[in-house]
Amino acid sequence: MITVKDLHKDYHSGKVIVRALRGLSFHVGSGEFASIVGPSGCGKSTLLYVLGGMLPASQGTVCVGGFDVTAADDRALTRYRREQIGFVFQRFNLLGSLNVYDNLKLAWDLTGSRNTAGGRIESVLESVGLADKSRMKPLALSQGEQQRVAIARALVRQPTLLLVDEPTGNLDSENAEKILTIFKELSQSRKQTILMITHNRALASATERIIEMKDGGVVESGRGETAVPMHGSAP
Ligand SMILES: Nc1ncnc2c1ncn2[C@@H]1O[C@H](COP(=O)(O)OP(=O)(O)OP(=O)(O)O)[C@@H](O)[C@H]1O
Ligand SMILES: [Mg+2]
Repeated sequence: MITVKDLHKDYHSGKVIVRALRGLSFHVGSGEFASIVGPSGCGKSTLLYVLGGMLPASQGTVCVGGFDVTAADDRALTRYRREQIGFVFQRFNLLGSLNVYDNLKLAWDLTGSRNTAGGRIESVLESVGLADKSRMKPLALSQGEQQRVAIARALVRQPTLLLVDEPTGNLDSENAEKILTIFKELSQSRKQTILMITHNRALASATERIIEMKDGGVVESGRGETAVPMHGSAP
């Protein structure tokens, strides 16, 4: 499903070059629920943006479901982002002026699908336990609920790959647990491929695979708590 080979990403700010990703390689299978862990600044969000086709790589290849993200032109990337990727940002990025339903409706309309959303919005809200909040504005919801709206929005288009940046960052353990349950359910019953960044080791160990990053590279990639060292990919 996801194959990353020798991926590099440099940021140029003025004369300074930040080498955010330095030769990173890993593979995640279809339907797998994987987590990415590692210290702040090691390149986790950068990796997710490159995978999601939102940021160009400097070197290396990224393939998602047979689509070569690193070789695609802008048009193909726009379609890829719209049709294949669901993204939950580190900050929720919900539109405060729209209610929950309309936040999801907007995401649906952006697919350019001729079908009406029909029951899709209701069913996805149901799956994150927010069926009764669809007419509320995001700011009237708790942090945990807002995060679940952001997840529902990413799912409304039925993406091939769900990319999630720190979904439980500001949440207490009860809400973090709820979110984990949603992802596990998605991965088990719908074979949704999910890649989730987290700094929470307990959450990470509940996923099928842990990709451990350090200084822009992968230091370990393995199953759950029994992660095994990966050879030749450390920077
Ligand atoms: N737009 C940018 N311009 C220049 N440098 C950047 C930019 N975005 C990120 N960086 C740098 O790239 C490195 C990796 O950043 P990234 O946001 O990917 O880290 P992260 O692992 O997600 O950190 P955190 O856990 O704090 O979210 C950092 O040194 C960061 O300062
Ligand atoms: Mg980050």
